[in-house]
Amino acid sequence: MRTTRSVDLPVLYFGTPVALITTVNPDGSSNISPISSAWALGSRYLLGLGSEGQAAANIERLGDLVINLPSADLVYAVEAIAPTTGRSPVPAEKVPAYRHERDKWGLGNFSPVPSDTVVPPRIAECPVQIEARVAQVVPIDDGNALAVEAEVLRVHVHEEILKTHGPDRIDTEKWNPLSYAFRHYFAQGPHVGSNFRAPLLDEPVVVS
Ligand SMILES: Cc1cc2nc3c(=O)[nH]c(=O)nc-3n(C[C@H](O)[C@H](O)[C@H](O)COP(=O)(O)O)c2cc1C
Repeated sequence: MRTTRSVDLPVLYFGTPVALITTVNPDGSSNISPISSAWALGSRYLLGLGSEGQAAANIERLGDLVINLPSADLVYAVEAIAPTTGRSPVPAEKVPAYRHERDKWGLGNFSPVPSDTVVPPRIAECPVQIEARVAQVVPIDDGNALAVEAEVLRVHVHEEILKTHGPDRIDTEKWNPLSYAFRHYFAQGPHVGSNFRAPLLDEPVVVS
């Protein structure tokens, strides 16, 4: 038996993909919020958002959002906008680590593309862009954060990461998501195996 030790970790970020959430500000401009508390189950996406952020405020006001998934080569663009918030004034608990930035698009060199079904634009540089609408928001951690359930409405994917033949499928050899673990960024590692259901994904019928 391997021995374990009870530890006191400052964060429990064991590794999840980075997502860039685009939302609409009260003045009609749009904001980009990097997060890593994001995962999908069926047609629902679940997000964890600090309640002091601009993304949380925007989502509570207008339930539209886009979940943009960057590839590993966008790491510097993501980190360029990382120390900023769309909130002004910057909330006390974010001072001095964060500064206010109105135009995260310019700061990260990101290009907006209009969405089909929601108001916030998509990020052209992200290979995956998921239009979604909030289904429910649950306050967690004594109101310090929000668990957001969003219904996926439309998924856009760069042609380069799709399989060239058959039904619409991501080619996992070509998709290199940016991951975040313990405040460090990682690219996709080697392919070490396949799930028993993987071949079923190549059938036209969608399986969950
Ligand atoms: C890679 C990365 C992952 C992050 N993950 C989250 C997260 O899951 N949830 C969250 O609320 N903030 C997360 N943050 C912090 C937010 O990006 C930060 O609070 C930012 O100021 C939010 O912007 P906004 O206030 O304009 O929405 C993350 C930051 C980075 C760089």
